[in-house]
Amino acid sequence: MSPRSSSSVNRLPYQRSPFRIAENVSFLRPFVKWAGGKSQLLPQFRALYPKQEKIHRYVEPFLGSGAVFFNVQALLQPSRALLSDTNAELIDTFRAVRDEVDDLIELLRQHHKQHSESYYYEVRAQPPQARAARAARLIYLNKTGFNGLYRVNSRGLFNVPFGHRAKPEIFNEALLRATSAALQKAELESRDFRDLSGVARKGDFIYFDPPYQPLSKTSSFTSYTSGSFGEKDQSDLADLYAKLDRRGCLLMLSNSDTPLIRKLYAEFRIHCVSARRMINSNGDKRGPVSEVVVLNYGPYTSRRPVSRAK
Ligand SMILES: C[S@@+](CC[C@H](N)C(=O)[O-])C[C@H]1O[C@@H](n2cnc3c(N)ncnc32)[C@H](O)[C@@H]1O
Repeated sequence: MSPRSSSSVNRLPYQRSPFRIAENVSFLRPFVKWAGGKSQLLPQFRALYPKQEKIHRYVEPFLGSGAVFFNVQALLQPSRALLSDTNAELIDTFRAVRDEVDDLIELLRQHHKQHSESYYYEVRAQPPQARAARAARLIYLNKTGFNGLYRVNSRGLFNVPFGHRAKPEIFNEALLRATSAALQKAELESRDFRDLSGVARKGDFIYFDPPYQPLSKTSSFTSYTSGSFGEKDQSDLADLYAKLDRRGCLLMLSNSDTPLIRKLYAEFRIHCVSARRMINSNGDKRGPVSEVVVLNYGPYTSRRPVSRAK
């Protein structure tokens, strides 16, 4: 492990952590904004990561903006990562950052020069073919569209309106280059979480961040892709969690604090964290809500997953 320098410790509010921060990745953060992104919860999550001398593989099947992946890269320094999401365009964007970062930066520079409301709608209307160009379009629309939303219509076409932000940061070259370096040992797949059953191995640390079970009918927001995530999906996910627990994986899952979620994960350790979320359909009404993090191991104490296999 790399020695902890006093400068890196001073920059971060993590002095009492047993983790050593990897110098080169300590400033990584998501390069897109994503609904349900976990950046605000990272200070609470870090106390819940497994305390292992070495995490060989980190797995995240609901990747979104990758906020937790970037945090885990800095703190646990896994040798490999397996990252996936059903949003194929998002996964292709991560691949472009990993494999074509020079072309991507050049294309983003061009978007930046031409940025205006009418240019936004022109770009939105014309999805290009080449991967780097499609990735630059997704990042540009994400940074300049309304609230960083990703929303598609029934034909799969991006339909978020212009965001009217005074000075959007369309891209950050240093961040994209550091992200590209951090992704070099990551496999990126566009797939459903259920397919993880065929690839997860004993010892993998897996973080699940599914679309949350809605707290009320009006708070439902599941339009990350053209599909939705219902109770059957939540229950399939709980079955997968129990199966991977028996396999010996280290499991961490976040969700809303509802009776259904507490029932599905009743046999595991349930921790509460506090998040600021939109709590009803009125965007002005934001407040702290309790969310749950389900673990199958003891934070900071256990070297092995606490298996409840029968
Ligand atoms: C709450 S977001 C993840 C946010 C992420 N942790 C972050 O910090 O940005 C949930 C993600 O799950 C993906 N998703 C929805 N249904 C899925 C499924 N059946 N299998 C895999 N991914 C799915 C969505 O595309 C979305 O990116």
